[in-house]
Amino acid sequence: MLEETQSSAAAVGAPAHAPPTVRVREVSMDFGTGSKAVDRASFDLSLGRFLTILGPSGSGKTTLLRMIAGFQRPTSGHILIGGKPVDAVPPDRRSIGMVFQKLALFPHMTAAENIAFPLKMRRFDPAFIPTRVRRFLELVRLDGYGNRRIHELSGGQQQRIAIARALVFEPALLLLDEPLAALDRKLREEMQLEFRRIQKELGVTTINVTHDQREALVVSDEIIIMDGGFIHQHASPALMYRSPADEFVARFIGVSSLIEGTATVGGLMLAGVTLAGSLSGSLQPGMAARGVVRAEQVRIARPEVSLAGCETVLLGTIADVIFEGERLLYVVEVPALSQNILVYHHDPESAAVFATDAPVSLGWRARDMIVFEARP
Ligand SMILES: Nc1ncnc2c1ncn2[C@@H]1O[C@H](COP(=O)(O)OP(=O)(O)O)[C@@H](O)[C@H]1O
Ligand SMILES: [Mg+2]
Repeated sequence: MLEETQSSAAAVGAPAHAPPTVRVREVSMDFGTGSKAVDRASFDLSLGRFLTILGPSGSGKTTLLRMIAGFQRPTSGHILIGGKPVDAVPPDRRSIGMVFQKLALFPHMTAAENIAFPLKMRRFDPAFIPTRVRRFLELVRLDGYGNRRIHELSGGQQQRIAIARALVFEPALLLLDEPLAALDRKLREEMQLEFRRIQKELGVTTINVTHDQREALVVSDEIIIMDGGFIHQHASPALMYRSPADEFVARFIGVSSLIEGTATVGGLMLAGVTLAGSLSGSLQPGMAARGVVRAEQVRIARPEVSLAGCETVLLGTIADVIFEGERLLYVVEVPALSQNILVYHHDPESAAVFATDAPVSLGWRARDMIVFEARP
């Protein structure tokens, strides 16, 4: 279940009683390697939504996507598309458009012929094909490029042709498996926004797979975080960022410091220091715990400045200053914790920039450090 109060179907104008476009029920994939590639995954996706499955390499993202596409049969569980079970439906009958990292465009065909291909395969009325192809060339902003051969197009243009080819037959579902992973950063970020624009324009229900947390936050209506075949959380980007379900999610999204200790009523205790924090889930005082605090939620000041509103205040020394362009990342050595704490500073032009070895005071509010049960 998506952790949100409002109905996501209502947000796109679908009737409230319409079944989710995709329904994944207790789906597992066991390749017989000892651990399951996908372990009882369940989620619903409503019409017109853009879902990103985010996780590290080997977490089961591609396997899950291949089962939805029909290339792989789940060991157990069921998948429904448009309210109908697709267990026995072959991939080419599932009304799914796909773009993978290997674009698999036909090099001997022109851009327009590539886009027309799925229409011909589906025995579309030939009289309508040129108009439809032109419409999709326009959609991906490549009108006028129809007669180019694939090698006469740039990497970004080839991506656009692949998207047009995946969408031209108006599938019920678009699946993207890291299609942007091989692109350089600037082009990748441009294409992320393009994927989102095109998806919004057509309103096509989309499942995107990536290991790039930034991409997931930027493009998605909802995110699923996977690791070891297991779904850790399914939520909107904002909710996932604000309220990670567990330590894995907290560490995977954003830049954080991790502090080991023992849970107390008000946070975390270690080596005689008590740090203010919020206990998550079923964590009880006395249990081994880990506090996670995001780099942008730690306040930093000269040691004599009092940090109003911060329940935790610690003294430290700047160990390193990392310039990231729009912001600085301070690595602050905190003797009381015998470890470093990461702190973002979002205004590198400001006068209050600290140099290496400067003494500083750090602080955070209780709600900004989430304390999770320590798992191995
Ligand atoms: N055909 C296969 N046979 C055996 N193991 C596989 C096969 N496909 C994937 N796996 C294993 O399943 C796990 C998940 O893989 P995959 O779904 O490709 O992860 P991701 O896409 O998140 O990187 C990995 O441990 C991988 O080695
Ligand atoms: Mg993969």
